[in-house]
Amino acid sequence: MSRRFLFILGSHRSNGNTELLAREAARQLPADVEQQWISLAEHPLPDFDDLRHGAGDPSRPEEGNHALLLDATLAATDIVIVSPVYWYSLSSHTKRYLDGWTSWMYIPGLGFRAAMAGRTLWGVTTSAGDLPWIAEPLVSAVNNWAAFMKMNFGGVLRGIGTAPGDVLKDTEALARAKPFFAQDARHPPASQAAAHGPGPTRNLPHDRLAAPSRPHPHVRRHVLLKEAVMTRPHADSCT
Ligand SMILES: Cc1cc2nc3c(=O)[nH]c(=O)nc-3n(C[C@H](O)[C@H](O)[C@H](O)COP(=O)(O)O)c2cc1C
Repeated sequence: MSRRFLFILGSHRSNGNTELLAREAARQLPADVEQQWISLAEHPLPDFDDLRHGAGDPSRPEEGNHALLLDATLAATDIVIVSPVYWYSLSSHTKRYLDGWTSWMYIPGLGFRAAMAGRTLWGVTTSAGDLPWIAEPLVSAVNNWAAFMKMNFGGVLRGIGTAPGDVLKDTEALARAKPFFAQDARHPPASQAAAHGPGPTRNLPHDRLAAPSRPHPHVRRHVLLKEAVMTRPHADSCT
């Protein structure tokens, strides 16, 4: 299967920082790698309707944005979650897409979870605040998402910016974007995830967030937790 990247744009505005950073990284993909870009703002999903456990009809969607996104997801070898940090985590468009995966797992005969196993999940994010822990819940969500689905976790590329275009001034992020997709995807602790479902995952890829000169990820994590305790999020560093 040749590589096919699906970029899921989760920002609630067009041409935002996160998309700009993702496009910078995607520019480095070889010409024979197919790319599909879908904006969730242009193709919004409704709030998740929990039809599991006999509560409704979980049949495969044949039209509309659910069908578009399901088909595109199944056709991709690599799925890139391009979500800004909203309140330390995923944007609500992105969260609805993620909840959609739960719906798709319950479609009889589709085998969605088995089909996604072995593919690669990546993340690209931007935030206004520049403290690395600000994106930790988002990174954990993408990491655990991959582990639960037995997918490879490619890592999360992170940039800093508030107004559209700001991220183009983040020269460290632009430098990290160039080799980002060339790095080998990591294998998640799939057996652990399969046994327990999504949950706290050790060995978070903090080195994917940090500049190369920063300390070892475990050391950095300790420092970050200390910063999180000592420093209350400032209003300016939120939006
Ligand atoms: C609803 C909302 C919540 C946000 N929450 C945070 C946050 O928790 N931490 C932070 O650093 N920035 C936060 N931001 C700022 C965005 O992450 C930042 O503006 C980012 O560049 C937006 O990405 P975009 O240009 O791709 O839309 C928030 C922005 C919005 C609109």
